[in-house]
Amino acid sequence: MVKEELFGQLRGRCPVGQLSLDEDVYEYGDELRVELLKIKEYNAYYMKSVLKSIIDKEYIDLEWIYEEYMKVLNVGVPSGGDYEDIIEYRLSDAVTMKMWERPKLISSLSTTGFRTWEAALYLCVYFDGMKLSANGNTYLELGAGTGLVSMYLYKLLEGRCKVYITDGDSNLLDGSLLKNLQLNEIDERQVVRQRLIWNEDKNIPLDVDTLIGADITYDSAYFVELSQCIYDFLTVGGSRCKEMIISCTVRSEDTIASFERSIVDVGLKIELISDNDLKIVERVERMLYKKLIAPIRIYRIVA
Ligand SMILES: C[S@@+](CC[C@H](N)C(=O)[O-])C[C@H]1O[C@@H](n2cnc3c(N)ncnc32)[C@H](O)[C@@H]1O
Repeated sequence: MVKEELFGQLRGRCPVGQLSLDEDVYEYGDELRVELLKIKEYNAYYMKSVLKSIIDKEYIDLEWIYEEYMKVLNVGVPSGGDYEDIIEYRLSDAVTMKMWERPKLISSLSTTGFRTWEAALYLCVYFDGMKLSANGNTYLELGAGTGLVSMYLYKLLEGRCKVYITDGDSNLLDGSLLKNLQLNEIDERQVVRQRLIWNEDKNIPLDVDTLIGADITYDSAYFVELSQCIYDFLTVGGSRCKEMIISCTVRSEDTIASFERSIVDVGLKIELISDNDLKIVERVERMLYKKLIAPIRIYRIVA
């Protein structure tokens, strides 16, 4: 149990000061070495920090520790924001997702989709608490970024759904999204990856039941296009789409109010269905090993 907890923390890149390291580590030292060598492939600096932390705890005696530490002694802190890593998120009892991302990268190459954002984790935990129908429902995610929410839904429903993963950035679709599908052993033929720039790409699939989105409401400059795109899904002739479920990080009340207004302006209805629910917040914070940067809300939008 303690071993599983520690390994989960390591895979989630828990800050070393918060790791459950105690003298029992001695009992599964060899497995820990294997685990750390796997981590070294992606993030040697993190491995080095963990080793250092064990060495500092003089009561933990592992004979291989100095040998491995010497091998990474020269590894420095990853510089710049664009270092890559694979981070595991324990989203529910049944589902853990592995995501290839650039965790410190806010924005690059005109996208903010290289890392997983807090609102995505919040939405996944929210879905975990709902009785989602697995009767062949079809979901489409707008601005999917790393694709966490779509891939999580797919896993949660054990593949008994269809998922469209869309983003405006084609590089993400053919790069990190593809990698993440492979990492999570999702057959890429089982989900559709599609470029969808809001209100520009009009190739809207008609078989979508529920539209989803996480942290796509950070910039009011795109609200007209985003609202029009949601409107098209909910109203275009032949579309089965009945609702959009969207999670929003409230970095600014004004921005969120402006999003609400732009939805009403196109003639849609918007309803708040989760307002920084503390149970969900706690779970997300435990997953991220830190406090959330801002409150998170989920809205339901209908025609
Ligand atoms: C902050 S990221 C959120 C990514 C992901 N949903 C998450 O929560 O981790 C916003 C995403 O929206 C995409 N995006 C921004 N503007 C867009 C537009 N006009 N059309 C389509 N996608 C867009 C970006 O490429 C990026 O992947």
